[in-house]
Amino acid sequence: MQRRPRRNRKSEAVRNLVEETSLSVKDLIFPLFLIDGSNKKVEVNSMPGIFRYSQDLMLKEIEACMNLGIMAFDVFPAYPESLKDSNASESYNPGTFYLKALREIKKQFPEVCLMSDVAMDPYSSDGHDGLVKGGKILNDETLEILGRMSLAQADAGVDILGPSDMMDGRVGYIRNLLDESGFSDTSIMSYTAKYASAFYGPFRDALDSAPKFGDKKTYQMNPANSQEALIEADLDTEEGADFLMVKPALSYLDIIKLLSDNCPLPVAAYNVSGEYSMVKAAAAQGWLDSDRAMLEILLSIKRSGAKIILSYFAKEYALLGK
Ligand code: PBG
Repeated sequence: MQRRPRRNRKSEAVRNLVEETSLSVKDLIFPLFLIDGSNKKVEVNSMPGIFRYSQDLMLKEIEACMNLGIMAFDVFPAYPESLKDSNASESYNPGTFYLKALREIKKQFPEVCLMSDVAMDPYSSDGHDGLVKGGKILNDETLEILGRMSLAQADAGVDILGPSDMMDGRVGYIRNLLDESGFSDTSIMSYTAKYASAFYGPFRDALDSAPKFGDKKTYQMNPANSQEALIEADLDTEEGADFLMVKPALSYLDIIKLLSDNCPLPVAAYNVSGEYSMVKAAAAQGWLDSDRAMLEILLSIKRSGAKIILSYFAKEYALLGK
């Protein structure tokens, strides 16, 4: 035999030399769930190890994560039904607990990279990402609401806005509004290829944000399609996005690769709630090793071309390195 690929696997030292992909805590963004009140820490039933925090405890959690090297956080709010309406008007109420918490996080930890979510669903009595009229999700009318929400979040000090709504034209609309309003340094990580996925289930439990009727298939992408991801990526790039995101990650590694091969902007991937919960559920049964599965999953996402990974495993990953 002339060629013996096993020679490059013969010891850990050799394996390390030929290793092509490496993961770092610097690649990760940790999604966090915020609730109103104080001294509250409530585990999400379908996401063992993941909690909804009130602002005071979230600040402590962020500090603990920073001590482990995590420097980027994406905060999602869980609103009570009583504050939801069809226009998501609570989303731009300057006194709302989400905006107050974002402001406080940046004040206490100016060095963190703080990301927020731009979409109507946490505040919408319809549970949809856009404005609903007569059973339809209206695109252009939604942009106005997303714009107000974006300005309020930028004003609170957010570093990266994350429009997760999949309305057409929202990146350009938000970019213009930010620039006109003196927020030209606020970045946009567009949820570029966000698929209508079963894997968001546990997240909707965490936020009580499931749609009240129908599904999200008229705005989120069809899991059968990949060419469409290139159209979305071109539009987001033209409209001024700073990062492109693919979501979910694991069933869409080919899409991550497609965008990273074809688009110069950095590509992020969202390792979503259901992808986390599957591992935790199997590990709880003793059916697989959570740490090893986590490492393999995160590595596969990075290997497929993602520069950045949003993952509920971020803290566990950081703790492994300690
Ligand atoms: C909503 C939003 C969702 C997620 C992030 N932003 C859910 C949805 O579109 O229904 C999912 C994140 C996850 O599952 O971890 N705009």
